[in-house]
Amino acid sequence: MRRVAVLLALSALALSTAAGCSQSLETGDDAGPSAKVALLLPDRNTSRYEAGDQPYFAQKLSELCPGCEVDYRNAEQSTGTQLQQAQETLAQGAKVLVISPVDSVAAGEIVAAAKAKGVPVISYDRLVLKAAVDYYVSFDNAKVGSLQAAALLQALGAKASAGEILWINGSPTDNNATLFKQGAHAGLDGKVRVAAESDTAGWDPDNARAWTARILPTLRGRTIVGVYAANDGTAGAAIAAMQAAGLPQVPVTGQDAETTTLQRILVGDQYMTVYKALRTEAETAAALANDLVRGKRPAVPATVDNGAGRVPSILLDPVTVTRDTIASTVVKDGFVTPGALCAGAYADACKAAGIG
Ligand code: GAL
Repeated sequence: MRRVAVLLALSALALSTAAGCSQSLETGDDAGPSAKVALLLPDRNTSRYEAGDQPYFAQKLSELCPGCEVDYRNAEQSTGTQLQQAQETLAQGAKVLVISPVDSVAAGEIVAAAKAKGVPVISYDRLVLKAAVDYYVSFDNAKVGSLQAAALLQALGAKASAGEILWINGSPTDNNATLFKQGAHAGLDGKVRVAAESDTAGWDPDNARAWTARILPTLRGRTIVGVYAANDGTAGAAIAAMQAAGLPQVPVTGQDAETTTLQRILVGDQYMTVYKALRTEAETAAALANDLVRGKRPAVPATVDNGAGRVPSILLDPVTVTRDTIASTVVKDGFVTPGALCAGAYADACKAAGIG
């Protein structure tokens, strides 16, 4: 019941935000104040931050608040760099901090520094734990894990009992990675056997590839029937390592609907990915930042406990993408264009999947 109410309120919010006519969020009908808004993103290992989050956020904020300026910084997976970037932007007068933390716990220091200056903080995509953040904008991240688990079980079918899977999680300092892992274990435990499981420091595909290459020779004589990979970067790494070892193609999960991944799905190298509507996520955060710049604190549909209290939250819904649903999800939503997806060698696979 509560969940239905939250989802209804949320889709109303998402729709109104997308249409630029929100009731609860500021519409930007005047030029408004001139203020610096800091956008602190965690890494470049995943294409979403530079290709999606940053431009979507900046564009929406400039529409809503033409006098605002986005101070964008990328921490390149370094907790220390992110702290330094936060300190710099605060010293330079940032009025709102939007942060996707490299380290969900360590970033408490960043939140404390912002609070000391009276600067509100939006925890973006990843939750800062045990700190007084003002808002949290993300997806239902445990659901990401359960969608991955359900898809893997579906792909394995009866083969689930014929062998074991490899299991690759994300960064141990990212609270999202913890939630993906929890959701996936809830769906897969007792239904698959796990040959080996590892976290991936910094979500770095090089680390995932090195781990897979190291673990495979220790598993000689055993059958790997599938791979749980927490995102597309780690999925690509596992696939490359398995191909290099001469192993057959098996179902592999992922997340982020990166263009190269969608191409892997088209040709059958990867089974699924999870699409998260980044434009909605980034625009929702931009609308909130605009409100905060103007001293407003809109009511939002949910709260999430981060260990320091219940954080007002907006949680969007992730979506499974397989070969059969590329056209009806990411292409339909304009997340990827047929031109980009179907270029060169992928033209035939696109046609076969009913795209373009
Ligand atoms: C997660 C994020 C994913 C993926 C990953 C690696 O926190 O939700 O979309 O990008 O980090 O950066």
